[in-house]
Amino acid sequence: MKIHKHEVIIVGAGGAGLMAALYASKKADTAVVSKLYPTRSHTGTAQGGVGAALGNMEEDHWEWHAFDTVKGSDYLADQDAVEVMCRDAITTIYELEHMGLPFDRTPNGKISQRRFGGHTNNTTHKAVMRACHAADRTGHMILQTLYQQCIKNKVNFFNEFQVVDLIYNNGVCSGVVAYEVATGEFHIFHGKAVMFATGGWGKVWSITSNAHTLTGDANAICLRRGIPQQDMEFFQFHPTGIYRMGILITEGVRGEGGILLNGKGERFMVKYAPTVKDLASRDVVSRAIYLEVRQGNGVDGQKYVMLDVTPPTVNKYFQEDDARNPDGSLRHLTEHDVEAKLEDIADFCKTYLGINPAKQPIPIQPTAHYAMGGISTDIDGRVLLDEQKTVIPGLYAAGECACVSVHGANRLGTNSLLDLVVFGKRAGEHIAQYVQNVPFPELPDNATDSIKALLENLKNSSGKETVAKIREEMQDTMMDNVGVFREKVGIEKAIAKIHELQKRYQAISFQDKGTQFNTNLLEAWELGCLLDLAEITAEAALVRTESRGGHSREDYKERDDKNWLKHSIAWKNERGVTLKYKPVTITKYQPKERVY
Ligand code: FUM
Repeated sequence: MKIHKHEVIIVGAGGAGLMAALYASKKADTAVVSKLYPTRSHTGTAQGGVGAALGNMEEDHWEWHAFDTVKGSDYLADQDAVEVMCRDAITTIYELEHMGLPFDRTPNGKISQRRFGGHTNNTTHKAVMRACHAADRTGHMILQTLYQQCIKNKVNFFNEFQVVDLIYNNGVCSGVVAYEVATGEFHIFHGKAVMFATGGWGKVWSITSNAHTLTGDANAICLRRGIPQQDMEFFQFHPTGIYRMGILITEGVRGEGGILLNGKGERFMVKYAPTVKDLASRDVVSRAIYLEVRQGNGVDGQKYVMLDVTPPTVNKYFQEDDARNPDGSLRHLTEHDVEAKLEDIADFCKTYLGINPAKQPIPIQPTAHYAMGGISTDIDGRVLLDEQKTVIPGLYAAGECACVSVHGANRLGTNSLLDLVVFGKRAGEHIAQYVQNVPFPELPDNATDSIKALLENLKNSSGKETVAKIREEMQDTMMDNVGVFREKVGIEKAIAKIHELQKRYQAISFQDKGTQFNTNLLEAWELGCLLDLAEITAEAALVRTESRGGHSREDYKERDDKNWLKHSIAWKNERGVTLKYKPVTITKYQPKERVY
């Protein structure tokens, strides 16, 4: 058994993991353990931009950004955390710029910004240009920039090591256990502090923008070690995934002037959000698409609508005020603009659909995109053990696997990249301080026993079930019953199905019994994580008898602040899921009806 000793162990090499590693490594010996090569992390797929009220294009203020974030969250976000994020956004973006991040530029050399859903001028209530972008590959640029900085700072990288357990005994966290993908060997990473930054779990659903690797590993590991998850009933569906494939078509397309059309050619968002229309927040737009499809307004009677970015000469639905920027220039995109500002989108459309988006509309449907819930943390990334907010010393989380909570019941586009860099940095700084003052905790003797036994059992099982079949049934069940809309009977059906699948999971087998690059084994382990997260999502959704943000109950259509303005906290053990609740932190924005 190889034991690696570093003061700081960070699990995951996306934006949050790398930002934390960069800051922790300024003062402490830091290791990043990742199941992927770092620049393959899912942050690299974030397209349209990172939000910050720089005011480079028009008037903007971080307080407007904070209000939009709280309103977009359907008032479930903790407002102290939102204020930190939106205020720190500005300095953090300039810091990234100074690290060399190649943002697009305005003609006078400032960082260019574009419109995005839910981001508004709080006086006129019209969409404001707040998303700082590097074409349509902003996440990719953040990832590359941070990775280079980490290499410069001598962070130790352990790539293609899948972390499968947390070493956590009697409230003391002393490291993690990882499985080396190339060799099948187990490694212990012994540290004074551990931080999880493993991303989301969109693979619970069949149509998703998430990569195959987004399987909620840290969340499931925490649950198995008695550490709860917060607000798991809230999972975001991004309105514009490529029909049937789920691949993300950035909201930046609508930010640059694209509009949504139903099968009759109607610009239907005018009905659902008369002021911001196609740039309403994601929960609103995703529901509108579902409702149009239900009313028979899908294209050719199918379950999709069109995203149209073709110019007004081709597209007769533009209204004059939507067609112009504040400076009077036209918002529509020429073929050249599409290539320059949305190059990856143009490429996806050509590759996967055989169309040119400058000339033809894009068939889209809502796609499972982002987990608002996750490992409960404070604003310094410290993991919280319960509804009393008890801190677990030495354990941290940031990014999508964490819930700080700045997104509440619905996240605004561009706030995920922002969450990564702001709270990744804060966690990194806190960890750097923390490890100065504590010794290495002792490692328990049997640190790898239980996880080794679990993986051996999986490998040696000779049952008749397959990973692919169980995963497909889970994904279809969750898509049909715990998706954009939910109601009691459907959620109960999903819970029963997940329980059935968890039993059948005990009888899975696969061909590869070897040790080198055994991705069969790792996929099987990841499926166990997904099943746990599906169960807890459905259980929390069943109990919350209201509609709020991404949790839309057809049998409880209204938001119910009297009973439900609170965060859920969920634990899971052999007997099932236990739910408790804690209050939302409100500073200056009292809950109001959301109007767009
Ligand atoms: O639409 C997008 O570019 C996605 C961004 C986000 O999820 O923040």
